Amino acid sequence: MEAITAEGLTIFYDGKPAVEGVDFTLEDGETLLLLGPNGAGKTTLLKTIACFHRDYTGRLGVFGRAPCEAKKFIGYVPQSHSLNERVPLTALEVVAMGGIYRRGFIHFKLPPETVEKAKEVLGFVGLGDVSERLFSALSGGQKQRVLLARALMSDPKLLLLDEPLSALDPSARAEVVSVLAKIKRERRVAMVITTHDINPLLEIGDKIMLLNKRLIAFGSPGEVLQDQIIKSVYGPLARVVPVEDKLFCITGDVHLHRHGGGGR
Ligand SMILES: Nc1ncnc2c1ncn2[C@@H]1O[C@H](COP(=O)(O)OP(=O)(O)OP(=O)(O)O)[C@@H](O)[C@H]1O
Ligand SMILES: [Mg+2]
Repeated sequence: MEAITAEGLTIFYDGKPAVEGVDFTLEDGETLLLLGPNGAGKTTLLKTIACFHRDYTGRLGVFGRAPCEAKKFIGYVPQSHSLNERVPLTALEVVAMGGIYRRGFIHFKLPPETVEKAKEVLGFVGLGDVSERLFSALSGGQKQRVLLARALMSDPKLLLLDEPLSALDPSARAEVVSVLAKIKRERRVAMVITTHDINPLLEIGDKIMLLNKRLIAFGSPGEVLQDQIIKSVYGPLARVVPVEDKLFCITGDVHLHRHGGGGR
């Protein structure tokens, strides 16, 4: 069964298309790296798959259902997380409570099975030893792993990750990539990971999509990472260089935070 199918998918804000005429299929268990410059529509596509945004035409299926009928299969990690760090929650509480958002929270006693499950997923992401620490006191890489653990609480079949590596230094990136690789290896879950920099994620990508409002390319890394394709979006200086037995993609694109209408 396909995790995602899109046919002629066009996504609108206020009647204007932000993503246009996209076709692709992602098989169950596959990892898709979604690459594109600022404003390309990466977050928009992710939110539409997750049923947070519903203004689209064309066909979009998630495990054969409409996105809003497939919510229980989906785990979502937003671009800039919306936890209020002034609320003094431990890593374990963040994971166990699932969604504590800006509006504050109601204190309640968590069921023991929820706490057990939260401990299990925190152990899975390698954070068993910091579960009682305050979320706000963790490193960037640890925070991102807590948010991954939180998304794993519902045993999703599809994980949607919006720029999980942005704003992390190289060693924190490596931490998060190794957890993503472990999720791919040990849990049968399909993933869509948006990114400006594809290089740290290449080892886990089965498919790559290059999006720039329209679908520029979709396929295996070898099919998409070609000079003329990359140059068509990032300009004449962009290129793909083989380094030993791997490809390295030079786009000159650095992530810009807080452009208009970006993260959730
Ligand atoms: N809530 C919104 N209302 C109106 N327009 C929006 C909204 N969110 C995004 N847009 C517009 O839709 C387009 C795609 O935005 P989107 O955030 O999906 O891009 P992105 O590829 O995720 O960019 P980035 O790399 O900066 O995160 C942009 O032109 C953006 O301004
Ligand atoms: Mg985005």
